[in-house]
Amino acid sequence: MRKLTYFIACSLDGFIGDPSGDATAMLRFVDEEYLAFLRSEYPETLPTHGRRALGLGDLENKRFDTIIQGRGSYDLALKEGVTSPYAHLREYVASRTLTESPDANVEIIGDDLVAKVRELKAEDGQFGIYLCGGSQIAGELLDEIDELVIKTYPIVYGTGMPMFGSDSAVTEFTLDAVRTFGNGAVVRTYSRKR
Ligand SMILES: NC(=O)c1ccc[n+]([C@@H]2O[C@H](COP(=O)([O-])OP(=O)(O)OC[C@H]3O[C@@H](n4cnc5c(N)ncnc54)[C@H](OP(=O)(O)O)[C@@H]3O)[C@@H](O)[C@H]2O)c1
Repeated sequence: MRKLTYFIACSLDGFIGDPSGDATAMLRFVDEEYLAFLRSEYPETLPTHGRRALGLGDLENKRFDTIIQGRGSYDLALKEGVTSPYAHLREYVASRTLTESPDANVEIIGDDLVAKVRELKAEDGQFGIYLCGGSQIAGELLDEIDELVIKTYPIVYGTGMPMFGSDSAVTEFTLDAVRTFGNGAVVRTYSRKR
């Protein structure tokens, strides 16, 4: 069984972006130390165009071979003219409005998102599935999430987009690891209590 991991950046007050979802205020914490961590532990979570710009295009995947995004998140790449933002992964985008995929590497999940995620989790393989977000699909998929990797940056939004966008049952996780950084960022890893 492959794990579904919600790997997400958030503020101290638990928001993944401002009320519109804009998360750019958190990018200032991606400094040398933090980038070295991403490069060595989670290279596949960096978008393909960003990896190329940093000269990291050849890095092998360490944990994930598949990514799931909601159309809201995928739109950020589309607006920049990038149709396959994670070309080094199998890309799935949840959308009921995108009837045709803009890219051969991107498969649209138009209906029964949970069933498709269960199918992907049931595949054999050493690599897991990266749930990128955003808020809406994370909320819909909370019951399927096996692991949380929460990158908390020392910033307060006050108001913003929640980590999980829809009503969901209280769900317990166990803390597995904590990593702290000189700039105040903290990365916590939790596994689901089943
Ligand atoms: N802080 C971070 O690390 C981080 C990471 C990722 C994203 N974000 C932020 O999150 C924001 C986007 O989040 P969001 O909540 O607005 O959108 P989202 O969850 O990315 O996408 C929502 C869209 O997914 C589709 N969808 C949802 N449920 C579905 C289902 N059951 N079946 C098929 N399609 C389904 C719908 O697309 P259609 O309308 O096309 O049907 C819906 O509009 C962005 O602004 C981004 O900046 C932050």
